[in-house]
Amino acid sequence: GMPLPDIAITHVPFPTEAADALILAIPATDDPAVSDELRSALDAIGFTGKKGSFARAYAPGFTSLPLAVVGLGPDHDLNTIREQVGAAARQLTGFETVAIDAVTTVDGAWRAIAEGAILGAYQFDALKSTPEDELARSRRARHVLVHAPESVTDDDLGTARAHGAAVALVKDLVSTPADRQSPEQLADGAVELVSDLPIQATVWDEQALADGGFGGILGVGIGSDRPPRLVRLDYAPEGAERHVALVGKGITFDTGGLSLKPAASMVGMQEDMTGAAEVLAVVRAAAQLALPVRVTAWMCIADNMPSGRATRPGDVLTMVDGTTVEVTNTDAEGRLVLADGLVAASRENPDVVVDVATLTGAMVVALGTRHTGIMGHGDAPDAFLRSSDRTGEAAWALPLMDYMSDQLDSRVADMQNANVGNRAAGSIYAGLFLQRFVGRIGNDPEADRIPWVHLDIAGSGMSTTSPYGFTDKGPTGASTRALIDFVAAGGEVV
Ligand code: BES
Ligand code: ZN
Ligand code: ZN
Repeated sequence: GMPLPDIAITHVPFPTEAADALILAIPATDDPAVSDELRSALDAIGFTGKKGSFARAYAPGFTSLPLAVVGLGPDHDLNTIREQVGAAARQLTGFETVAIDAVTTVDGAWRAIAEGAILGAYQFDALKSTPEDELARSRRARHVLVHAPESVTDDDLGTARAHGAAVALVKDLVSTPADRQSPEQLADGAVELVSDLPIQATVWDEQALADGGFGGILGVGIGSDRPPRLVRLDYAPEGAERHVALVGKGITFDTGGLSLKPAASMVGMQEDMTGAAEVLAVVRAAAQLALPVRVTAWMCIADNMPSGRATRPGDVLTMVDGTTVEVTNTDAEGRLVLADGLVAASRENPDVVVDVATLTGAMVVALGTRHTGIMGHGDAPDAFLRSSDRTGEAAWALPLMDYMSDQLDSRVADMQNANVGNRAAGSIYAGLFLQRFVGRIGNDPEADRIPWVHLDIAGSGMSTTSPYGFTDKGPTGASTRALIDFVAAGGEVV
């Protein structure tokens, strides 16, 4: 497929040349900047410009192109423009080249238009056998022309393109069914995807994982005929003063293991590698944008399957740092693979560690399906919240309560991975578990832990409700853009 539209700048307002349709974002039909011809055409269909409204219009006195209008509302900001232009790009099908303009005085609107268009126009049809001509009619824009002031050129689209390409990559990988994406395929694909960039790739296969003592990743992957992998992707530009480590959960399919999920809960569990896809997409974007920050991405990849070899409830795994963990529930596997990843990432003494994971179903209970839940310590959670604010991605902080720590205790081992029979604050329990594996500054046992933020995207990573804004049904790549922004800021509060 060709899921990502290409974007280019035009300096012509309401451009008609070389486009098949025009999308126009409007704060209000009675805005003085709306021409009389356009206003009467919009009045005729009762379009007022109310935020979120979308209509196709016929306005021959204004434009010779098929027209789609989308409402911004009078008090819109950059996030509104990105969201509503994206909604229009998502809903307008059948036109290959689409020009987009907005009636607005918001500074830098062109950038939000470009980002919204790229996000909204994404489509995954790689597995459809529908003939090409039929597909074309239901296809969103493939080429987008964004109106921008004279001072803006195509070169300024780098960030919008990198953000769009990163989200599209995550969606492509998450949309790929598990039968076509084993741990080995995901790992090899990742290496291939960074081969044209200044990124050093290292892959641990099952033998290397055993030699290295990665008991968490091995213990989760052991039940599958398709062995696990750990991938390290290092982007280390010369002169970088900050080092951000990213750790992603890469469960290629989560059956629950011997603690088998009920049939309905297993549906969609190919999405359980979203975190790994995101860290891959983010390190790639950092290199594409030549950010002056070192980024090391760790993809913790395993297939969680039940079998005669699978880890049983009660088994004890030895994590890569020597911590022993009693597996009380094999469906709480994400924290096991991430534990190894967090330890490996921390050993390199980065300035900040981030992990991202479709970790707990309890996340949906706590915050619903749109917000990413964040937990952590040090400045990292604040820095991330600033980033998610800038990219317009919803995130909300949850506390890591100290009094819950004794629930991590096991009778036989150092820790247990789940507190069976207690459903209180399940997302926070998982966060507290992970925190134990975040290393200390300078690898000094007396020092504080490295600043860390944990993103639980179990709710936000997949959209199952009706589409809204630029968000279609299916994988969302939630927080990918915020992570690129976070990395660009060196993981600091700016
Ligand atoms: N991959 C799931 C979490 C999940 C659920 C992601 C729904 C996306 C949508 C995770 O591995 C899991 O199964 N967690 C368990 C933890 C429990 C056994 C402590 C859960 O949420 O039930
Ligand atoms: Zn699970
Ligand atoms: Zn899982």
